[in-house]
Amino acid sequence: MFDPAFKLRSPIDESLCLKAARVLREGGIVAFATETVYGLGADAFNEAAVRRVFRVKGRPENHPLIVHLADAAMIGDWASHVPHAAARLAERFWPGPLTLILRKASRVPEVVTGGQQSVGLRVPAHPMALAMLRALGSGIAGPSANRFGKVSPTTAAHVRQDLGEEVDFILDGGPCSVGVESTIVSVLDETPVILRPGGVTREAIEEALGCSVPVVHSGEVRASGLLSSHYAPCASVIVSNPDEITDRAAELRAQGHHVRILTAHEVAPHALFASLRRADGVGVDYILAPAPDEAGLGLAVADRLSKAAAARDVAGPQE
Ligand code: TXA
Ligand code: MG
Repeated sequence: MFDPAFKLRSPIDESLCLKAARVLREGGIVAFATETVYGLGADAFNEAAVRRVFRVKGRPENHPLIVHLADAAMIGDWASHVPHAAARLAERFWPGPLTLILRKASRVPEVVTGGQQSVGLRVPAHPMALAMLRALGSGIAGPSANRFGKVSPTTAAHVRQDLGEEVDFILDGGPCSVGVESTIVSVLDETPVILRPGGVTREAIEEALGCSVPVVHSGEVRASGLLSSHYAPCASVIVSNPDEITDRAAELRAQGHHVRILTAHEVAPHALFASLRRADGVGVDYILAPAPDEAGLGLAVADRLSKAAAARDVAGPQE
C-alpha cells in the first residue's frame, strides 16, 4: 500500500527541515507546512525575528502568536500552570490541530504573546514541521503565513503569492491535509471554552473532557481569527442555502455580476481556502458558497465562511 509519509521521511526532506531550523537559529523567518495551514515562524526567543513576523504579515503587535512545540512534554516549559483539562486535551490531540491557551511561563517573551499573560501552544502533526522543531530544540512563534486579514495559505504556492521574497525560507510540505486552522481552546478559566472552531471538532473535545464546551465569540480576548472581517477574499462572499443557490446566482448574473458557485466539495475543510483563492484569482464579483452542515469540521467551515462573508460589510480588518 502507498504510504504517504514515505516521501516525507526521505533524507532530502529531512535536510530541508534541518535547513529551516538553521535559518531560524540564525534569526531568519521561515514559512512552514503544518497539517492545518502554513505558518510563518520565528525562534520564539529571538525578539527581532518575532517582530519581523508581525511586520511581514502586517499584523498589529498586540495580536498574540501561537508557539509551536516539538513535543507535548514541553508544555510545562511554556505554561506556568497546566490544568487537568489542558493535560487531557494535549494527551488526546497532540500532535494535531489543537491550540491551548494557558497562563504563560515567565520565560515566554511578551513580544510573542502580544503583551498578554497567556500563551497559545500547539504541537503540529506535520512530520516536516516536527522535524524542524526537533532540530531547533525550541519553540517556534508564528501565525498563519498570509497577510493579515486574508485567507490562510494551504500550499507553498499560496505563501509565495502572499509573502514572496519576504520570507527567508519556505519549508514545502505539500498541500495541508486538514486545511482549516487549529481549534483554539482556552483553559484559563475553570470551564474550557472554544475561541476558534478548527481542525479538532467540538464533539471530540467534549468527548475527551466529558462536558459541554461552549464556543465563545468574545471581544475581550485578542484573537484576530475572531474578528468578523477575517479570512477575506477580494470578491464578496455570500453563504446561501444550497436549495436557493442557483436562483441567487441567476439574480446576480442578471444584474451583470460575474458569479462563481462553490460546490460542496470545494467547501470541504481541506479545499475551502484554496477554493476561495481560486475563485478570487479569476476575478469574480461574488462567490456563492453552500451553507455547510455545522456538525464536525463543518463548524470551522461555517465560521470561516461567515467571516469571509462579513468582510464586505465592513471597511477591512478591524483593530
Ligand atoms: O492552525 C493554526 O493554528 C495555524 C498554524 C500555522 O499553526 N496558526 C494560526 O495562527 O492560525 P494565527 O496567528 O493566524 O491564529 C492564531 C490565533 C490568533 O487569532 C491569535 O490572536 C490567537 O490564536 N491567539 C494566540 N495566542 C493567544 C492567546 N494567548 N490568547 C488568545 N488568543 C491567542
Ligand atoms: Mg491566521
